[in-house]
Amino acid sequence: TLITLRQLLDHAAEHGYGVPAFNINNMEQGLAILKAAAAVDAPVILQASRGARSYAGDIMLRAMVEALAKMHPTIPICLHQDHGNNEATCLSAIRHGFTSVMMDGSLLADMKTPAPYDYNVDITARVSDAAHWVGASVEGELGVLGSLESGEAAAEDGSGAEGKLDHSQLLTDPDQAVDFVLRTKVDALAIACGTSHGAYKFTRAPDGEILAMHVIEAIHARLPGTHLVMHGSSSVPQYLQDLINDNGGEMPQTWGVPVDEIERGIRMGVRKVNIDTDCRMAMTGQFRRIATKTPREFDPRKFLIPAMAELEVLVKDRFERFGTAGHA
Ligand code: G3H
Ligand code: 13P
Ligand code: NA
Ligand code: ZN
Repeated sequence: TLITLRQLLDHAAEHGYGVPAFNINNMEQGLAILKAAAAVDAPVILQASRGARSYAGDIMLRAMVEALAKMHPTIPICLHQDHGNNEATCLSAIRHGFTSVMMDGSLLADMKTPAPYDYNVDITARVSDAAHWVGASVEGELGVLGSLESGEAAAEDGSGAEGKLDHSQLLTDPDQAVDFVLRTKVDALAIACGTSHGAYKFTRAPDGEILAMHVIEAIHARLPGTHLVMHGSSSVPQYLQDLINDNGGEMPQTWGVPVDEIERGIRMGVRKVNIDTDCRMAMTGQFRRIATKTPREFDPRKFLIPAMAELEVLVKDRFERFGTAGHA
């Protein structure tokens, strides 16, 4: 069953659990995520970026998600636009069956340049009105994702954005968050707390200096009815870095957001936890292992079956640790 983000996260808030939002681009990711969800009885958020929509095509994405819902009739699924950059992206997603959209006005439409506050309020309020008229949910973002280590803002794709920012822009301000939600009426709010997209988040195991989980608590206290979202929440686990690097990969050592920090965030009010990089690494690790171990192999299924299995292990673990399991 397809449901909205509002319906799904209201239930999560009522029962005090978090929901991972996994990015999806193809059938194999969808099969693996839903298989894991069915195994632990968890509701699912599948999110598609603009890149995913152009990779698979809107018609294919929608049909795929409807097929997954048919295969797993007891699992509630939310189909969410990740990082919509303007009104057209968000409204065309809704037309194509998405039940929820993110209007990311923290950056200008180029998804690189940090945007003025008023721009963010205006464009998000416009999308919020239109989406609510037709029964879709909306996520906004306040604060620019980026590194508290370097002061660099991060573009949507994990590359550097324009210019250096100070800490106040890299951490969402609770007073401004209250004003933002009042004026935009978003259902969910993505906040900045020191995470960034991609694999290279931290150059050391993060502590409170570079991963500022305390901002979540302050915002949640002021906005109990708004569901908080953590972007850049991949853990970049060592076992996947090793799987990739032991099979010809050359990923420099890196650190992500530890799963126990996310669990702490969920206790402080985080409801939606965005994860893409870990899923990519799980699949790519197995591609590399199969390619290295059986260099004569050329049947893609021989690569994709272990890749799906590795993704399933990861996804199941997040459902269990975030408390999503058992709530479908
Ligand atoms: O926020 C970025 C997500 O990881 C999606 O990445 O735009 O390469 O599909 P993508
Ligand atoms: P990661 O790159 O940490 O997986 O974050 C994904 C994300 O925030 C998608 O919106
Ligand atoms: Na999103
Ligand atoms: Zn994101």
